[in-house]
Amino acid sequence: MIVGTIDQYNHAFPHAPLNLSFSGDGFSLRTQGNGKVVRIVGHNERGALYGAFEYLSRLAQGTLSSNVDYTTSPSAPIRWTNEWDNMDGSIERGYAGNSIFFENGAVLANLSRVTQYARLLASIRVNAVVVNNVNADPATLESNNINGLGRIADAFRPYGIQLGLSPYFASPVNISGLPTYDPLDSRVIAFWQNKTDEIYKRIPDMAGYLVKASSEGQPGPLDYNRTLAQAANLFAKAVKPYGGLVMYRGFIYDATYDKADWTADRAKGAVDYFNGLDGKFDDNVVVQIKYGPVDFQVREPASPLFSHLPSTSMALEVEVSQEYLGQQCHLAYLPPLWKTVTDFDLRINGTSSRVRDIITNKRFKHPSRLGGSAAVVNVGQNSTWLGSHLAMSNLYAYGRLAWNWESDETEILQDWVRLTFGRRDPHLMNTITQMSLASWPAYENYTGNLGTMTITDIYTHFGPNPQRRESKTSGTWLRADEKSIGMDRTVWNGTGPGTGFARQYPDEVYQMYEDLENTPDNLLLWFHHVPYTRRLHSGETVVQHFYNAHYSGAQTAADFVRMWQSLHGSADLDEERYQEVLFRQVFQAGHALVWRDAIVNWLHNVSGIPDDLGRVGHHPWRIEAESMLLDGYKPYAVDPFEAASNSTAIVTSTNTTVGRASVILPQRFTSGVYNLAVNFFDMLGGNSTYEVSVNNCTVATWTADWQDTGKLGHAPSIYIDAHSATRITFPGIKVRNGDRLSIVGTPSGIEPAPLDYISLLPVGVVD
Ligand code: GCU
Repeated sequence: MIVGTIDQYNHAFPHAPLNLSFSGDGFSLRTQGNGKVVRIVGHNERGALYGAFEYLSRLAQGTLSSNVDYTTSPSAPIRWTNEWDNMDGSIERGYAGNSIFFENGAVLANLSRVTQYARLLASIRVNAVVVNNVNADPATLESNNINGLGRIADAFRPYGIQLGLSPYFASPVNISGLPTYDPLDSRVIAFWQNKTDEIYKRIPDMAGYLVKASSEGQPGPLDYNRTLAQAANLFAKAVKPYGGLVMYRGFIYDATYDKADWTADRAKGAVDYFNGLDGKFDDNVVVQIKYGPVDFQVREPASPLFSHLPSTSMALEVEVSQEYLGQQCHLAYLPPLWKTVTDFDLRINGTSSRVRDIITNKRFKHPSRLGGSAAVVNVGQNSTWLGSHLAMSNLYAYGRLAWNWESDETEILQDWVRLTFGRRDPHLMNTITQMSLASWPAYENYTGNLGTMTITDIYTHFGPNPQRRESKTSGTWLRADEKSIGMDRTVWNGTGPGTGFARQYPDEVYQMYEDLENTPDNLLLWFHHVPYTRRLHSGETVVQHFYNAHYSGAQTAADFVRMWQSLHGSADLDEERYQEVLFRQVFQAGHALVWRDAIVNWLHNVSGIPDDLGRVGHHPWRIEAESMLLDGYKPYAVDPFEAASNSTAIVTSTNTTVGRASVILPQRFTSGVYNLAVNFFDMLGGNSTYEVSVNNCTVATWTADWQDTGKLGHAPSIYIDAHSATRITFPGIKVRNGDRLSIVGTPSGIEPAPLDYISLLPVGVVD
């Protein structure tokens, strides 16, 4: 077995030099003599390492044929991850525990997880990691932290991973006490040059800076009427002597919009701010652009900014962390979503201009040859890295796609399944494939349809809260009134102007989105404000589509539980992973119902239009807690109203009173065996306990401690709302007609043992 770079190889075998056509971090893997001779040659050292991982991957998957001859090169040099870690050890939008890099304002003493992470990332050919939050803390770059950052870089280096940093734009003031952070001020320029020199002295291979400035309240060049290019070039000049890059984020918008103004639109921000700047960036600047114009939503059109910077290097930003997509508590295999953007053809100047060709520099052929992608990952100390075993397919797939955005998402997924679980059980392969491929469409179905985006709460980004999206300043309103819904982003809708966002696209794409008839159903409400009764291309009305999609999406989430249960005992699945995934799938199935009911009830409420199939508001198998006989419990009006069934929950009358709710089972519950489901609220700040009994015989107990123990890891809630709304199920509960069913809730901390409803479900029924 030979492993080395091409130069090393040709030096060692001068009489038989190789001439391989690869580039960048590419490599060649060849086996001969029935696999007895293995030759791994990298274009550089990284390539040799990637080749070794490729060999191991094929070996593990059983796909290493006896005579492999495989040569590959990356489609782009930038294959980075971004981690939004804070110096105190927390992670912005991270759902898997604390930082593997920082704690208490400094770099962790024990970096063994960092070494493991570097190895993991190298195996998927990621080559740089920005370790601190884009909402940067000036302390990160203080002199006393540089050595710690250097230790992280040292842990990365053997795996070909370079360290990147997010600078805090106003650091000249915060760190050096200068009176200004104006990017054109000579003292500011000197500050950044000195700081950069100091960093490179300790970390000579530092990848560069990732800059978030003049966005979401961050300081930036606009504070001094300077342009984004002037800001980017300030950093670019400082890192240039060291071969460093500046990733300048395109995610720029003003956080306050006026809802009364029908032309106000957050989606327009990036293109407006970059207007006139193409060609003004230094050649080591890369503009890093989120896939859609808003923010990692369940569905967005491709960001039009990709079509505005033909003379500038560009990179795509995706998010592996499922910030708006269930925070790793819901299964969502994301490559199909990312591909709606990377495969999208922007038709710039009437010629093929797929986003994947723009970011890999094929379309505009920028002389610096820079381009690629970055994924916000936010791994934590949790042993699964992301908090969920199945969510790791997204990280694996990101690496594979960053190497080649044309790779097939199903093949990638199946490679991941073989590498993660094994290759003995075809049923396991088929089941995880089916679940994963159905997961993003299901999530879209039970959250925000037709281009309304996710409709999560605008702060936690987890549970539903449509009314918060309608708040005055969000700039991405649903604009749902009693007759119609959607944001009109056309230039002229026939009777009046829209926000004009559609005009940010090249002509052909603009014409498609400007025209109501030509806009695809799945982006209809992104671009148009239409009556609920409008018929889609599918034939359904808008409102009925919402109802149907929500019922079908929640059903799919329920099916995932049964599908996963069918894997119990599989030769490729240990009990620990089986149970941990089952726990999350059961949670998802319950929370999908919270989503379904919240959105359909809210829509029914604003539109007044009933569901053709009579499902909305009709729950034959539910018993509302507030309708039970209460002792020590009292009704509680939930806000937002759609977060609870019948808008009402019950809470204990004080935080120390034990509550009891009981009911004699009504006639419709004939004697038999049911699945018991209880919807309660698991708030942060208390671990209430519950006990269900049938005729004084205990049938179920549990503790609402999933938020406090971090078992689920999603954004916490201290309220009775759609983030804390949780369902627990107990199969096989025997009841006889006329039995008395009781729940005793014992409050804890701030959590008053809240309950929403119970369902007694005949087998197979979801309600
Ligand atoms: C989103 C996210 C923030 C993050 C921002 C960004 O708005 O919710 O937490 O800081 O994106 O990408 O900069």
